[in-house]
Amino acid sequence: MNTIAELRHDFPLLTRTVDGQPLIYLDSGATSQKPQCVIDEINDFYRKNNANVHRGLHSLSEINTFKYEQVRVKLAKYLAVSEQEIVWTSGATESINIVAAGITKSLSQGDIILISALEHHANIVPWQQAAKLSGASLQVMPIDQQGVLDLTSALDMIAQLRPKVVACTHASNTLGNINDVEAIIKAAKKADAVTVIDGAQAFLHLRPNLSHLDCDFYVGSAHKALGPTGLGFLFGKYNKLNALPIFKTGGEMIETVTFSTTTYRNAPAKFEPGTPNISGVLGFGAALDYLDKIDSDLLQAYEQALFIYCLNALQNIEGITIYGDTENNIGTISFNYRAEHHYDIATLLNSYGVALRSGHHCTQPLISELGIEGTLRVSLAFYNSHADIDAFISALKSSIELIEG
Ligand code: ALA
Repeated sequence: MNTIAELRHDFPLLTRTVDGQPLIYLDSGATSQKPQCVIDEINDFYRKNNANVHRGLHSLSEINTFKYEQVRVKLAKYLAVSEQEIVWTSGATESINIVAAGITKSLSQGDIILISALEHHANIVPWQQAAKLSGASLQVMPIDQQGVLDLTSALDMIAQLRPKVVACTHASNTLGNINDVEAIIKAAKKADAVTVIDGAQAFLHLRPNLSHLDCDFYVGSAHKALGPTGLGFLFGKYNKLNALPIFKTGGEMIETVTFSTTTYRNAPAKFEPGTPNISGVLGFGAALDYLDKIDSDLLQAYEQALFIYCLNALQNIEGITIYGDTENNIGTISFNYRAEHHYDIATLLNSYGVALRSGHHCTQPLISELGIEGTLRVSLAFYNSHADIDAFISALKSSIELIEG
């Protein structure tokens, strides 16, 4: 087995240059890079096996159907749940939409949907829609000045408001904070609320065990966990998942169709109309196999060491403000330099080959609660190295020198 640091060599894109500079990729929160095995799997599918699934008796279709369904089993095992509880979607966003649209039908005036102030737009807007259509109200669990969830207030709100839904991110995409979702889920269950956890950012770094977490719904996106874009998953406890109304309609999700009426299959099939993202699922299967071979404790220890190294280096630069929880963090650092616009610094950093995200990170309400317009965001993954961080810090210092003239 390779050490974690050696795994970097499995990611071919990390060797490329950008405008003559070696690429320093610090934007894994936006999308992770892909190991060679994922690229090979997708390539093999189109070169050797391309055929539809669930629809043919010919060999290629049968091989693909088997492999495709095996990935559902793999993901279920990875999350410690059952494969019937996994729906393939186009991404975490669609997964949340399926749940929110479904739950809307059981909400009414006076009901409360509770989210946290750290949510990505994908875990705010679908709930706003649910509130608007049902007459329910949307309320927010607060954060402190640093951007850390105020757990005491959150638990109080859950106990006192008795919301119908509690939707919370496992880890903030903007600040990297790991929320104590276990405590939130426990309190929500006591209050009989449905729990929806956005695992899009956490999945790669924390290896969530859903049997242990005991939430009702958990969502993620393949592309943030070494897999391809355009694919995500929705986990739902079977009774709750199967009770959700259908979301999209079409072929394969049906039992019988006449011109006057249709009956539907049970979950997960009832949420998967149309030809699915077959190459995406197979590629994600290769990503899961790859991740499964890595000791998750070692991976987390390596990522934490990188995070602390980067944090210390940033803290040593005068004028840098860092936001978020630096104790419980997946390896994402949001920061600003004095009152300089994040856009200007990101543009300068790009000229040194440093790729990071700047702006509001699809969390406008959070950014406005912090009283700023945006941040620069470094989001690390296990394929980053200490040398990446040295190169980033050196580029940042040079950018600051240019700005200060
Ligand atoms: N949600 C992704 C991010 O945080 C795109 O960058």
